[in-house]
Amino acid sequence: MAETWDPRQYEKFSDHRARPFADLTSRVGARSPTVVVDLGCGSGAHTVALSKRWPGARIIGVDSSDQMLDQARRDDSRERVEWVHSDVESWDPAQLGAPLDVIITNALLQWVPSHVQLIPDWIASLAPGGWFAMQVPANFNAPSHTLLREVASRSPRAAEILPRLVRGEAVSEPAVYLFLLAGLGCDVDVWETTYQHVLAPGGLQDEPVLEWIRGTALLPVFDVLKDDGERAEFLSAYGQALAQAYPRQPFGTVLPFRRIFAVAHKKP
Ligand SMILES: C[S@@+](CC[C@H](N)C(=O)[O-])C[C@H]1O[C@@H](n2cnc3c(N)ncnc32)[C@H](O)[C@@H]1O
Repeated sequence: MAETWDPRQYEKFSDHRARPFADLTSRVGARSPTVVVDLGCGSGAHTVALSKRWPGARIIGVDSSDQMLDQARRDDSRERVEWVHSDVESWDPAQLGAPLDVIITNALLQWVPSHVQLIPDWIASLAPGGWFAMQVPANFNAPSHTLLREVASRSPRAAEILPRLVRGEAVSEPAVYLFLLAGLGCDVDVWETTYQHVLAPGGLQDEPVLEWIRGTALLPVFDVLKDDGERAEFLSAYGQALAQAYPRQPFGTVLPFRRIFAVAHKKP
């Protein structure tokens, strides 16, 4: 039941989406790691940035989307990153043949309901002194998501859409990650931030919040509604609801977005 990703749509807000990655990785203290893995690397811009921060490291990007990895390979003109097509649930760190020094996973784990069970194996795969850093969205009670579920529940295809929407919301509260990672013997730094993204400040997009959601949370809907008419009807109802919940201000449209971060340092 994997979603079909569209790198161009996802990257429409690349400046806003880059901020949490920068905030996350700024707390990773690795100086000269040998092996660095980016789980759920997407279209790879952030993974390539890791190769610039750690020029001596072997950098591996893992993702399950052909569309995202195709884009990543095209943009990695220096072939600096090893791109691996795999579901992270079945990806085995042992196949790298060396302990890992850094694992980054940004905006992936909400799509992986089993991630709380996977994290202990990932920590075990780290070398002493290694780092694990994760960021997940935590805005599933925001109007963007409650309205999506409301519109979906009124759709004639509700029974197919609703279970898929739930799949992309598998996030625990910050304390769960703190206790889990501390229990695995790591020094842990967990925090949350609500960004106030100002979208379309120049008024260039009519429906900027809808455009944002098209790149991520709407993917499960698109995987069900393939027919243009059905899709247009859904988007029209959802777009109208969003426009009321996120009115345009003179300076742009504000999208508040809560995110959870956890950085764990394995003891040397
Ligand atoms: C929101 S994007 C984040 C991409 C990138 N980490 C970033 O920060 O821009 C989520 C990515 O997770 C990937 N993904 C979702 N479920 C996955 C899974 N089970 N295994 C591997 N990748 C997965 C998707 O293909 C997509 O590229």
